[in-house]
Amino acid sequence: MKLDYNKARPFLKWAGGKRQLIPQLNELLPHELYDNDFTYIEPFVGGGAMLFFMLHKFPNIKKVIINDINKKLTDAYKIIKDDVEGLVLMLTNIENEYHKLKVEDSKKEFYLKQRERFNEANLDLLEMTALLIFLNRTCFNGLYRENSKGEFNVPFGRYVNPTICNAEILYADSKLLNKCKIEILTGDFSNTSTFVEEGNLSFFYFDPPYRPLSATSSFNSFVKENFNDDSQRKLSNFCRQLALKENVLWMLSNSDCSAKNPKDTFFEDLYKGFDIQRVIASRAVNANASKRGKLTELLIRNYKTPTTEQIAI
Ligand SMILES: C[S@@+](CC[C@H](N)C(=O)[O-])C[C@H]1O[C@@H](n2cnc3c(N)ncnc32)[C@H](O)[C@@H]1O
Repeated sequence: MKLDYNKARPFLKWAGGKRQLIPQLNELLPHELYDNDFTYIEPFVGGGAMLFFMLHKFPNIKKVIINDINKKLTDAYKIIKDDVEGLVLMLTNIENEYHKLKVEDSKKEFYLKQRERFNEANLDLLEMTALLIFLNRTCFNGLYRENSKGEFNVPFGRYVNPTICNAEILYADSKLLNKCKIEILTGDFSNTSTFVEEGNLSFFYFDPPYRPLSATSSFNSFVKENFNDDSQRKLSNFCRQLALKENVLWMLSNSDCSAKNPKDTFFEDLYKGFDIQRVIASRAVNANASKRGKLTELLIRNYKTPTTEQIAI
């Protein structure tokens, strides 16, 4: 199935990006969303594949709350919403400068200079966003990773002719972000619970950093604060609390640890009593190319839909 949601789509490559999984997430959405106004809440928004899909699919979303612990990322959403023209202009200038350089070493030098600038404190948000997108397009594997000081430290990636400013996507994203009432928050996922309003339907999509399938297998260090097993437990408690409220529906993605090791029932235990589906996903961000194959992932929900039985594998 090809889903058309105009040109709006993630403006960054982001580890754990959900573009490949959208058709399966779409199938498992609650039916209540089709005939009710609702608040859409995404506490780990990342690149926002699901966000842009939802904004396009459901014009009846009354209010949107997005959150991420990465302040540079959430500031970039604010700039795309409020000053897309300025962003396109600045990014086009950076792109032109970069493409003028013919020798690989000069490109690398340019990249490292921009990376240093990006890590300076007190950059204005427009320049920071332009640099974030530039670095994302030219760094190794499109990763975002910070060192213990909170500095972006991904090395230069060797791409032949990367598109740095995709104005069509940036304008489409900006248009969708301006169509709705949106709050862009920075911080821990737990801050989002205050946006549940009694009497109104709320739908949460949680896409936290995945629990690694083995000590070395998965990339989950997005920012200097790691998301460890205690964080996963805290998140499951948060979901349990939400499930006690009326009119709150949620769906959550995570890794399928028991498929790798049947004895590792970490998520089955944490989410006992909720609906757990397995879906097939291919992960694009894995430093080891041979491991970019098909994997199953978990989709956990506090509701069921009539199609559940047909989709279960
Ligand atoms: C798997 S990614 C989300 C991917 C996203 N769905 C997409 O399509 O690109 C997880 C995100 O959670 C963020 N994060 C990590 N710890 C967090 C926390 N405690 N609270 C909120 N966000 C957090 C990371 O910065 C990262 O952007």
